[in-house]
Amino acid sequence: MSQQFELPPLNYAFNALEPAIDARTMEIHHDKHHAAYVANVNKALESAPEFFSHKIEDVLRNLNSVPESVRTAVRNNGGGHANHSLFWQLLAPGGAKSPAGDLAKAVDSAFGSFDTFVEKFSNAALTRFGSGWAWLALDGDRKLQVYSTANQDSPYMDGHLPLLGLDVWEHAYYLLYQNRRADYIKAFWSIVNWDVVDGLYKAA
Ligand SMILES: [Fe+2]
Repeated sequence: MSQQFELPPLNYAFNALEPAIDARTMEIHHDKHHAAYVANVNKALESAPEFFSHKIEDVLRNLNSVPESVRTAVRNNGGGHANHSLFWQLLAPGGAKSPAGDLAKAVDSAFGSFDTFVEKFSNAALTRFGSGWAWLALDGDRKLQVYSTANQDSPYMDGHLPLLGLDVWEHAYYLLYQNRRADYIKAFWSIVNWDVVDGLYKAA
C-alpha cells in the first residue's frame, strides 16, 4: 500500500505569527484540527488505497473518481488537509507587504489595484456565512478570481489553482478574536508571505 497522507510540519514556531495569530491557536489549529483532517482522510481512503499514490490536490481535482461511499469524507477531510497544508506556507512574520513582479501586474489588471483586491478578498472572507475559506485563485482560463468556499471545499475541486487562502473557520481565530472576524482578517494582511504567493503564480 502506498504511503498515507501526512501532517506537514510548520516551518515556523507556534508564536511566530504573533500578535496577528496567537501561539495557542496555531498549536491547536495545526496539531489538532489539521491532524484530524489527515487522520480522517486516511481512514476514509483505507477502502481505496490506490488514492494514496496521488497528491491530495489531484485527488480533489478528481473527486468524482473517489468511491461514492467515502466521497463526502474525502471532500471534507482531504479538502481540510490540502487547504491547511497551503495555508501554513502562505503565512510568515514580517514578509513583503504586497505581491511583486508578474503577480502584482496581474492583480492590478484583474482588480484595478492591490487595495481594491484586498478589499474584495476581505469582503469575501467577512461575508462567508458559517465556516469556510476566502481565496485568490487562478481559474481554468488562467484568470485571477476572488471568492469564498464553504466548509473545506477547495478551488482544486473546480479545477482552479489556489494562490492565497484565508481560513475563516472560528477555530482559526476565536481564542484571540472571539466573534471579531473582521479584526482577524485585517491582521491576516500583516502575515501574508507574498514571496510564496508570487512563487505559486510564477509556477502556474
Ligand atoms: Fe482551519
